Amino acid sequence: MIVEESDLENWRKAGKISAIALDYGIKLIKKGIPLLEVCDAVDAKIIELGAKPSFPAQISVDHIAAHYCPDADDKTILDSQVCKLDVGACFEGAMGDNAATVDLGGNYSDLVAASEKALAAAIKVARAGVALGEVGRAIQETIALYGFSPIRNLSGHGLGKFEIHTGPTVPNFDNGDKTVLQENEVIAIEPFATTGKGVIYESSNAQVFMQVSDKQTREPAVRKVLEKIRSYGKLPFARRWLLKEFPAIKVALAVRILGQQGIIHSFPPLIEEAKGIVSQAEKTVLVKRDGCEVLTVAGD
Ligand code: CO
Repeated sequence: MIVEESDLENWRKAGKISAIALDYGIKLIKKGIPLLEVCDAVDAKIIELGAKPSFPAQISVDHIAAHYCPDADDKTILDSQVCKLDVGACFEGAMGDNAATVDLGGNYSDLVAASEKALAAAIKVARAGVALGEVGRAIQETIALYGFSPIRNLSGHGLGKFEIHTGPTVPNFDNGDKTVLQENEVIAIEPFATTGKGVIYESSNAQVFMQVSDKQTREPAVRKVLEKIRSYGKLPFARRWLLKEFPAIKVALAVRILGQQGIIHSFPPLIEEAKGIVSQAEKTVLVKRDGCEVLTVAGD
C-alpha cells in the first residue's frame, strides 16, 4: 500500500515497536526455555509498548519455515534448533512485520548469514521504479553465493492499514515480474534460505487464524466465540488466545465451523519439502525515490 504522508509517523512507530519486540524475543530464545513462553512474552511486550500484535508471535524451528504458533499445551523446549522468530506490531492500523533467526545449535551460521545478507542486498536494490523481479534476483543471487536455495513459494508482501498481507508480492527469486516499486509503498522483504529444495507445503493443525468475512454464523453455539474473534479486528490471532475465555471443546467447534462457513481462514505451519533446515530474515521498509527507509528499527 502507498502510505499517506500524514500517516508516516504511525508506520514508523509500528515498525519501531515491532523491532523492539523482535530484539526482546531474540534475547529470550535460549536452550531449555519453552517456545510457548517466548511467544507469550513477545505478544505481551507489544501490548506493553502500546500496540497490538499484527499477528501472534511465531517461532518456526528447523525444517518448519513459518507459521508455527504454539497451542496452549505446546511442550516444545528450545534446545539446538534453528529458530525463526516472526513478530509484528499494529499501531493505529499501521503495521510492522519483522523476523530473525537464532541458531541455537551453532551449526548453521552460514545459513543464517545467507538470509541476512540476502535481506541486506534486497534493501540495497529496492527503490521506486525498480522491478520486483530485480529485488528477487538480489535475494536469489546472495543465497546462492552461500550454496543454499531461496524458498521460491514464500515471498515478501505489501502491508496495508490493518492488513498484514497485501500486494505486491516481493519474490525471493527473479520471477520476471516487471511491476515496479512505488514511492511511499510499504513492503516487507523476507528471504528464506534453506539447505533443502526451496519449496514449502502447508501442513495441518493450524494455530493461527484470521477473520475474513463479516457474515454472521448460522451456528448459535459459536456466536460468542465469533464475537471475540471480531474484537481482533481482522488481524490474525492464535487459537490459544481464545482458550483464555472459552473451553477447549467450544474453541475446537468454533474454529471448525467458522472455517467451513468461510468466516475465518487458517494459516497452518509451512514445511520445507525436503525437510531442509530453513533460516529467515525480514524487515518492513518504506520505498523512497532513492532507496528505502527501514521502518522496523529499534532506534535509540
Ligand atoms: Co511478513
